[in-house]
Amino acid sequence: MTTTDDRLAKMSLRPSDAVPRPTTEPLPPGPRTPALFQSLRLMRFRHTFVPKMRRTYGDVFALKLVPESRPLVLFDRLSATKEIFGSDPEVFHAGKGNAVLGPIMGEHSLLLVDGAQHKRARKLLMPAFRPRAMEGYRSVVTQLAEDEVGSWTPGREFRSLERMNGLTLEVILQVVFGVADEARLARLRPLVNATVDVKPIVLLGWGYPFLQRFGPWKKVVEVQRELDALLYAEIAERRAAADLHERTDVLSQLLLVGESEGEQPLSDAELRDQLVTLLLAGHETTASGLSWALYELGRHPDLMRRAQQAADEGDDDYLEAAMKESLRLHPIIPMVVRFLMKPATVGGVRLPAGVSVGPSILLSHQDPEHFPEPERFRPERFLEGHPTPNTWIPFGGGVRRCIGAGFSLMEGVVVLREVLTAYDVRVLPGHDDGPRVRNITSVPDQGARIVVSPRA
Ligand code: HEM
Repeated sequence: MTTTDDRLAKMSLRPSDAVPRPTTEPLPPGPRTPALFQSLRLMRFRHTFVPKMRRTYGDVFALKLVPESRPLVLFDRLSATKEIFGSDPEVFHAGKGNAVLGPIMGEHSLLLVDGAQHKRARKLLMPAFRPRAMEGYRSVVTQLAEDEVGSWTPGREFRSLERMNGLTLEVILQVVFGVADEARLARLRPLVNATVDVKPIVLLGWGYPFLQRFGPWKKVVEVQRELDALLYAEIAERRAAADLHERTDVLSQLLLVGESEGEQPLSDAELRDQLVTLLLAGHETTASGLSWALYELGRHPDLMRRAQQAADEGDDDYLEAAMKESLRLHPIIPMVVRFLMKPATVGGVRLPAGVSVGPSILLSHQDPEHFPEPERFRPERFLEGHPTPNTWIPFGGGVRRCIGAGFSLMEGVVVLREVLTAYDVRVLPGHDDGPRVRNITSVPDQGARIVVSPRA
């Protein structure tokens, strides 16, 4: 079995020798400040930094990032988005673009692998996210959402992000593990939370392994050891479970999946990495999207009433549109990144191997040509027709499009329905919110504070 320390030792942000080094060929314009400074601004202040770069340099610009001052070329050009999503995955590697997540998610993580390894992992994970599987998860989400919403205190302001985080964690634990040993779940919750809470500075510091003996880096290693021990114990027990074939949770499906797909089944180390990936990728992202949706509906009483009517009538389309509009206006992940293994032309720009490229989700969602009045929260825009392809891209695209996109929209609709059939939602005057970076996701800085009251 791979131990935590073996795993962490292998994970470095420094690309291996097989990865092309960036050349000195000219790149699109960009700032000349040190790579560490640019990396911190991109990680920490992306909501102001990226639009500023767009205003200064135009619709394509190059940043330099740690380690090794590797270039990242960001586009706000539809032709580039289309080409990147439709590109050859053997040339446009996504896993290397996500290397910053390696220490936490592990080398086998679907988010980190490329080429044949990605194809295999995606094939093995996909059945657990097909529409048929989704139906089974819907009842789990409904039950947990009902319990959560029933526990709220009317008339008292609270941070919806905190409540949504608690709820989506419960949902993903149940969906991934099924009804598992409650004592083990109780130990897992704080470890998953601590892992999600890893600060950008800690992730950036991973390029310097000696730091793992100190402060926050040491703490991450300790949390990882404990988390791994629990996950391996869960995997071992589940492998031996008599009712494995009847279970509908993701772990049980993954344990069986190799058999039917004619593939080598997933090893324990692979399972560990995919489980951590799903727990982390599927939890705070959806919580943030949901809390923004509640916040925006709370600020727009007319839209809130429209959504309540939809909830009463079982009209999922409007609730889904509210969730989609919330993800447009407040993208949770700011950009999609691919690493060029060979030189390529993207959006009309010739780029050398060793460079990362990506569409900026933030900029794409604010384009007035595709989203008139882009600053306005208007779910109707998703009912009036489909957005131009490759402009609404909260879940990325192409062969790497988010595997949980359907799941998180389903979860969003179910939770909004539970909230809105029970309560009126409002935001108190002056309690406006804005985005803040947490780990790699964007969340409402003030936690999207709302007040609920029983419906009149
Ligand atoms: C609102 C919620 C979510 C947002 C905004 C989101 C966003 C994203 C984005 C932008 C990507 C990268 C796509 C690309 O590179 O083209 C991604 C990938 C991924 N997401 Fe999500 N995600 C969400 C929910 C979920 C959920 C619920 C799960 C799992 C239960 C999940 C699991 C994954 C995985 C495993 C990948 C990697 C896919 C691959 O590389 O093949 N995500 N997500």
